[in-house]
Amino acid sequence: MLHPMRHSAREQRTRRLVSVAAVIAILSTGCFAQGRLHERRASSAPIRARASNAQLASPAIERRVDALLGKMTLEEKIGQLVQYNDAGYAAATPADANTPALAANPEAHLRVDAMQLAETGGLGSMLNTVGAARTNAFQRAAVEKSRLHIPILFGADVIHGYRTIYPVPLGLAAMFDPGLVTSLAHMSAEEATTAGVRWFYSPMVDISRDARWGRSVEGAGEDPYLGAAMARAYIRGYQGDDLSQPENVAASVKHFAAYGAAEAGREYNTTDMSEVRLRQVYLPPYKAAVEAGSATVMSAFNALNGVPASANAFLLEKILRDEWGFNGLVVSDYTAVKELINHGIALNAAEATRKAITAGVDVDMMSHFYDTQLPELVRSGQVPIGVVDDAVRRVLRVKFALGLFEHPYARGVEVTRAVPEHRPLVRQAAEESFVLLQNNPTDNGSPVLPLSKQAKTIALIGPLADDANEMQGAWGGGSHLPDVVTLKDALQTRAKQTGGTLLYAKGTEIDAASEDGFAEAVQAARRADVVVLALGESGMMSGEAGSRAHLDLPGNQQKLLEEIAATGKPVVLLVFSGRPLVLTWAAQHVAAIMEVWFPGTEAGNALADVLYGDVSPSGKLPMSFPRAVGQEPLYYNQFPTGRPPFNADLSRPPGPDSRFVSRYIDVPNSALFPFGFGLSYTHFSYADVAVSRPEVPLREADRASAHDLITVTATVKNDGSRTATEVVQCYMRNLGASLEQPVRSLKGFTRVTLKPGESKRVTFDLGFPELSFYNTSGKPVVEPTHYTVWIGGSSLATEHAEFKVTP
Ligand code: BGC
Repeated sequence: MLHPMRHSAREQRTRRLVSVAAVIAILSTGCFAQGRLHERRASSAPIRARASNAQLASPAIERRVDALLGKMTLEEKIGQLVQYNDAGYAAATPADANTPALAANPEAHLRVDAMQLAETGGLGSMLNTVGAARTNAFQRAAVEKSRLHIPILFGADVIHGYRTIYPVPLGLAAMFDPGLVTSLAHMSAEEATTAGVRWFYSPMVDISRDARWGRSVEGAGEDPYLGAAMARAYIRGYQGDDLSQPENVAASVKHFAAYGAAEAGREYNTTDMSEVRLRQVYLPPYKAAVEAGSATVMSAFNALNGVPASANAFLLEKILRDEWGFNGLVVSDYTAVKELINHGIALNAAEATRKAITAGVDVDMMSHFYDTQLPELVRSGQVPIGVVDDAVRRVLRVKFALGLFEHPYARGVEVTRAVPEHRPLVRQAAEESFVLLQNNPTDNGSPVLPLSKQAKTIALIGPLADDANEMQGAWGGGSHLPDVVTLKDALQTRAKQTGGTLLYAKGTEIDAASEDGFAEAVQAARRADVVVLALGESGMMSGEAGSRAHLDLPGNQQKLLEEIAATGKPVVLLVFSGRPLVLTWAAQHVAAIMEVWFPGTEAGNALADVLYGDVSPSGKLPMSFPRAVGQEPLYYNQFPTGRPPFNADLSRPPGPDSRFVSRYIDVPNSALFPFGFGLSYTHFSYADVAVSRPEVPLREADRASAHDLITVTATVKNDGSRTATEVVQCYMRNLGASLEQPVRSLKGFTRVTLKPGESKRVTFDLGFPELSFYNTSGKPVVEPTHYTVWIGGSSLATEHAEFKVTP
């Protein structure tokens, strides 16, 4: 995270949690697991699959690595595996040691002097140390003063923009537009490399099916197919075709693995699942990122089936390196090595270090363990030097591939503000990310949106209508606030242009009890033709350590909403949030609802474009919106049950014929707004779904290289009176397989723009990747089974066709 104060607050929270957990771990030393079973790493571990990143496998780089490694002392080698921020450096300077920022920063207490480490070759990489002056100062120490002149690699959490901020990743996923994601990712790399950053801790590709989990905001939501498409798009944007280009950065796909399955949606909680589910649902986006060449991977905080991910050789060695051929480096998440003690699988720092490095964690982010423990562990033979050498090689390969030895310093003119030329791109992204959830007609018979020309007086109400900071979401804190266009700014500009009137009342705060502002807000609503309500969460209510047990509008915003709705004026509810919220009341009482996530620097302009109808909304939900929090985890591609409710009316309590079926007695099973759903200002219809052949022989289908086995087509038509874009989606079900398969799974999507009355035939090619599933031996297979394919505008698509794989 880039903003110093937000960083400190976050780190302080993390620190508190860690120390409480440490006490618990010390009190319960009886119950730690024997992790040895999971450690099988040897320096000569064979890489079976083809190397995932060809550039890292280059013989020229290997020769340079060999030559350098041959000159390194043990301390210099270990230095390459050590990562710090610069808080400890500042704390090590006595005059600064007691400043509030440092007091709030746990790492200040380590008093690790990063500058001194840089000068002595003891610091391989730094995190969240950004800015040309800062990075160049540390880099000069490493390059000019250290014995071997090895440059430092600067990594940072550039998650959805560096200075020009675009929507949070969950919002980007709602665009279903990988090409645009690639452009945005590249744009952020261009900006951040001017500040010396050559490594992004992004993309986060954790599948999240539980809206209580705050980090849902950082990923692409609940679906593995969409998640994999997004993962590839980010990697292409960050790394380009050539890591050595100075405007490209190394990606770090995170958090490996299954972090998003945290039990009960509670942050950092344990995860436990079958290997089939792991491979089928949680791993595909990471695999896609690795196959796209991600140069690095971040190991997660969570335990998976009892083994913490940052000491998990099954994940890091067997799957990542052996099966997928990953040849980049693995960095631990923040203090994840130290947290192995809290997990109860290591009794002390030495054991935690040994477990992490032998399981495959190359770089220790902030634990202060590799530098303090590894020298003795190697000297005593508890960690073979070959293990250290392998890790150092991986770090050096990335540095050589990035061309850091040739261009160690920040490039060009430093970007410190939003870049004017980048604004159109982030505005387009924000527009594409909005999901229109409801747009009912008002008294005049027309839908509320787009705002009618007759709506001369608009009341803009709510705590998110004019809050520049909140427009940036959980990871946009590095931007310059005056660069952000709020909704109030944009609507004021429109009012001036059109001669309309904008009445603004904040109404309440995001999370407050005081109703002092309600009267003014109700007054404004009464005087207006239409009300635009900007309600929702703060950026920090999602993101790391942002789990919630309630998914309603925070504070007294629901009450404000009810009072405004009671005026009888047409209401457009804009929901700003980093996750699905429960909008059940709103759906019954408010004419129009649009989910707008956290849109970024161009928030206001993009919202105005869509509200006024310059652009028709095209976003589709990447996560299901529940009717009640008790439905979580909720996702469309569920598994079948032996007692489905069939056609029972689940909105009523069970009767004698609808009791003993899989259902809740107090809420329907379905999402209020399902995955893939989103309205437009026009209407699209679907017809004539057809497959290119009714049968595919198994011998053709069950081959990993089979790509175009069958083609599914459908006609999509714009039945309305506006040009608009639709995200056409293709879903599949596989019946009769040896393992239960989901009731529906996304297998393709494409954005189609159609003029009024225009229609188009869309095509999806399905091959082994789409038809196969993972069996209990961890292998993807196709069996002779029956398939149904649907094409439509959401996961509720009805138009379908069928085919079979024959024995
Ligand atoms: C987060 C990571 C992040 C890292 C570095 C951790 O707390 O889990 O997502 O990249 O900090 O800031």
